[in-house]
Amino acid sequence: PSCVLAYSGGLDTSVILGWLQDEGYDVHAVYVDLGQPCEDRQAILQKAKDCGAVSARIVDGREEMCRDFAFPVLQWQAKYESIYLLGTSIARPLISKLCLQVAKEVGADAYAHGATGKGNDQCRFQLAAEALDPTVKVIAPWRIEKFRKAFPGRTELIAYCNEKNIPVKASTAKPYSSDENCLHISYEAGELEDLTVNGVELVDFGMTVSPQQAPDKPETVTIKVEKGVPTHVNGEKCTALEVVTKLNEIGGRNGVGRIDMVENRFVGMKSRGVYEAPGMTILYDALLNVEQLTLDRDLIHLRDQLKPIVAEDVYNGFWYNAKMDALLAFIANAMQKCTGEVTLQLYKGNIIVASRSSEFSLYDEGIATMEGGGSYNQDDAEGFLRIQGLPSRVQGRVTPRAY
Ligand code: ARG
Ligand code: SIN
Repeated sequence: PSCVLAYSGGLDTSVILGWLQDEGYDVHAVYVDLGQPCEDRQAILQKAKDCGAVSARIVDGREEMCRDFAFPVLQWQAKYESIYLLGTSIARPLISKLCLQVAKEVGADAYAHGATGKGNDQCRFQLAAEALDPTVKVIAPWRIEKFRKAFPGRTELIAYCNEKNIPVKASTAKPYSSDENCLHISYEAGELEDLTVNGVELVDFGMTVSPQQAPDKPETVTIKVEKGVPTHVNGEKCTALEVVTKLNEIGGRNGVGRIDMVENRFVGMKSRGVYEAPGMTILYDALLNVEQLTLDRDLIHLRDQLKPIVAEDVYNGFWYNAKMDALLAFIANAMQKCTGEVTLQLYKGNIIVASRSSEFSLYDEGIATMEGGGSYNQDDAEGFLRIQGLPSRVQGRVTPRAY
C-alpha cells in the first residue's frame, strides 16, 4: 500500500516517515509551504528522500491560504472564543486538500499526519480529508498504541533516527512548541502549561516586538478594501499574501497582535495558548472600519450573531461542510459594498483609526448632524417612540414596577 504524509521536516514526521515504511507503506512526502520558517527547501526534500520516501515534493499553499481561507474568515470577523484569529485552524484543511491532490496523482489511498490524539489539529486534518475523499484512510500514528509504546519520548525518536541514518538537527529544544505560517505563530505546551508562567515573557516571539520596545511614535498605515478584500497597503497593489506579509512587518515592529489565552479544545480539554498575528490583527480592524460606513446595520448585526458559529466550526475543523459553504456564500454576498479606505495609527500594540472613506459610504452628515437643519425630522421620533413604548406601557399598567 502507499500513503501520502504531511511532512514538516521535523523530528516527529521524519520518524513517522520511517515507521510507515516499517509498517509496509510506500510513502510520498508532501511538504506544504504555508510560510513556516524553512532553512532550505532542497534540504527538506533531501531529508525526506534520506528517510526513504518514494517521492518528496514541496507545495506552495501560501497565496491560497491567505486568499481563499484566511480572508473569508476575516470577512466574518471570526475569532475563536472572542480572541483567537484561527491562524493554525484555518491552515489545516488546506494542508489536507493539497496532500490529497498528491494522493490522487500518485495513486495513494492513505493520508498520514503527525498531529497527536489530544489536540485540535487531528480533527481539522481528518474532517477535511474525509469530506474531500470519503474513502481515504487517515493514519495518525500518535493515536496508535504500538507507535506510542515505541516512542514514549524525544530520546526514542532521536535514537530511531540515528539507527535509520535519518539526519536530526541538534536543535536545542525550546521550552514550548510552536506552529508558524504567514498568518501567525502559536506557542503552547511545555513551560506554558503552567498558567502562572508569564507567556509574553517566556516566549521568544518571531513576528512582533513587545509593545514596550515598539517605537515611541505612532506609525500610519493605509489599507484599501474592495468588496471585503484588502487590496492595497499604503497605496501599493498587493496580492493577499503580500498584504498579510507587509502588514506583519508593519504591525510586528509596533507590537501589534499578541494574545495569551486559555481556550477550549474540540476534544474537550482547556489548553493555554500564546499567539502573535500582527498583520491579521490590523486587517480585522481595517475591515471593521470600512464596513462601519458601508454595510447595512441589520446585515452587520446578523453577521455578528453568526460569527461565533463560524469561528467554532473553523476551529473544530468543519471547513468542507454544507453549513460552511452556505456561510461563505453569505459573507461573500454581504461584502459586496464593503469597499473603501482606512488609515490606522499603530502605537505600542494599539490600533487607532485616523480616517476612513468610501464611495459607498452610508454615513450621511446631513442626517447625522447635531447642528440645526439637516434632513432628519425630530417630530418623526415622537410617533416612533410612542409605538416602541406600547408594550412597556401596558406592562407597567398591569404589573407596576417598584422605583
Ligand atoms: N491551539 C491552536 C489551535 O488549535 C494552535 C494549535 C497549534 N498546533 C500545533 N501543532 N502546534 O488552532
Ligand atoms: C497536537 O496535539 O498535535 C498539537 C496541538 C493541537 O492540535 O491542538
